[in-house]
Amino acid sequence: MSRLVVVSNRVAPVEEGKQAAGGLAVAVLAALKRTGGIWFGWSGTVVDGDTPQTPASAVHGRLTYTMLDLGRRDFEEYYNGFANQTLWPLFHFRPGLTSISRRNRAGYERVNGFFAAVLAPMLKPDDMVWVHDYHLIPCGRKLRALGCRQRMGFFLHTPFPAPEVLKILPNHRDLVEDLCAYDVVGFHTAADLRCFVNYVLLDAGGMVDPHPDGGVVVRAFGRTLLARAFPISIDTAALERTAETNARSRHAERLRESLVGRRLIIGVDRLDYSKGLPQRFEAFEAFLESYPEHRNRVSFLQIAPPTREEVPEYITLRRELSEKAGRVNGRFAEFDWVPIRYLNKSFGQRVLAGFHRQAAVGLVTPMRDGMNLVAKEYVACQNPQDPGVLVLSEFAGAAQELTEALIVNPYEVEGVADALQRALTMPVEERRERHAALIATLRRNDIGAWRETYVRALTKAPYQ
Ligand code: F6P
Repeated sequence: MSRLVVVSNRVAPVEEGKQAAGGLAVAVLAALKRTGGIWFGWSGTVVDGDTPQTPASAVHGRLTYTMLDLGRRDFEEYYNGFANQTLWPLFHFRPGLTSISRRNRAGYERVNGFFAAVLAPMLKPDDMVWVHDYHLIPCGRKLRALGCRQRMGFFLHTPFPAPEVLKILPNHRDLVEDLCAYDVVGFHTAADLRCFVNYVLLDAGGMVDPHPDGGVVVRAFGRTLLARAFPISIDTAALERTAETNARSRHAERLRESLVGRRLIIGVDRLDYSKGLPQRFEAFEAFLESYPEHRNRVSFLQIAPPTREEVPEYITLRRELSEKAGRVNGRFAEFDWVPIRYLNKSFGQRVLAGFHRQAAVGLVTPMRDGMNLVAKEYVACQNPQDPGVLVLSEFAGAAQELTEALIVNPYEVEGVADALQRALTMPVEERRERHAALIATLRRNDIGAWRETYVRALTKAPYQ
């Protein structure tokens, strides 16, 4: 079996026996443990001055973590700059928030080039290289330029925008050519794949043919590759068990006692403008306004750990949300009830599983999201006999699979308010039916299925 070399901006070293956080970390770790290999990326540390030239490595069994620190300028231009002020907003269909800067683009190319230069000498001829996410799109082409002929795959964890949006980026053609340097390019949904294919056909003069296993064979920029949707998922069985055992954990009990019989609506998101949090707070306000019978009977717990804290849009959002939560609470709170419990901190997966399990509604309303694993986690954590209801944005990739959720348009706050009312008054038979269909989908399409389908597709490269 070929060795797997995973390249991602963040690396999540995990000690044996401890659970990794996040879908990418869980999936990547499981794949690496099976084949042995290297997990290569940024250490998460920013140092004064230039990016240090030598990586640090740590070996855990058959797995080697190789991590680079980033110098302050690289961190600002590559991570805060091009990755998170250009590609992130653009890929989430937010041209108004997209900043275009040649300096940041040069920083992005420079860090990708540096990653490739450090990685290339570590590769063995029959390694399979699997690069993840928007931070590292050019990495494969830069490895090829250094003479690397290994099978190389890429997986995008965000949406891929329509060509009209992508073309706001002055170097859009380069970026698509970068993608075509890989042997397999994976997206979350058929819609993302369609956007990529449209660009290839209409703007790059390429050709596509269906592949019998799924996806399409793309011929463009002198390369042949497979492009396909591989919807990422969760470790469904493990999370079902975790939720059952943590239903009565200390944290879960404290939450239950604090609710004193009130129903719980839960939201768990990174504090990011793609997640639709201001609109969600407005929807909850509209719900309390339109359905006064729920006042003092429902609490909304929004967990929103801060992220990308040096990027101006995130600083503005944080201020806006604190104000909005304060306004709704000021308007509706009673001496013994706070409608919105808004927390800027994170919790471990076990604690969250216990919280999800007691929530009557999981409120997942991003304005645009590649997949959204929280939606899947909420479903897996429910008690099948008395499950809660998932209220899910039609603009999350997860909505393509989780069709038995209450699907909403997050831009229409009254519609989300009505969905909350419907969820909170839904008869138990209907809740059970919807949950049974949702959990069946998640048991079938779990993280193992995602990993295996992708790795199998990469094993079959090169595509002709
Ligand atoms: O959604 C894309 C993604 O890369 C996820 O894999 C991850 O949860 C998040 O963005 C990481 O954000 P950051 O590394 O900037 O904290």
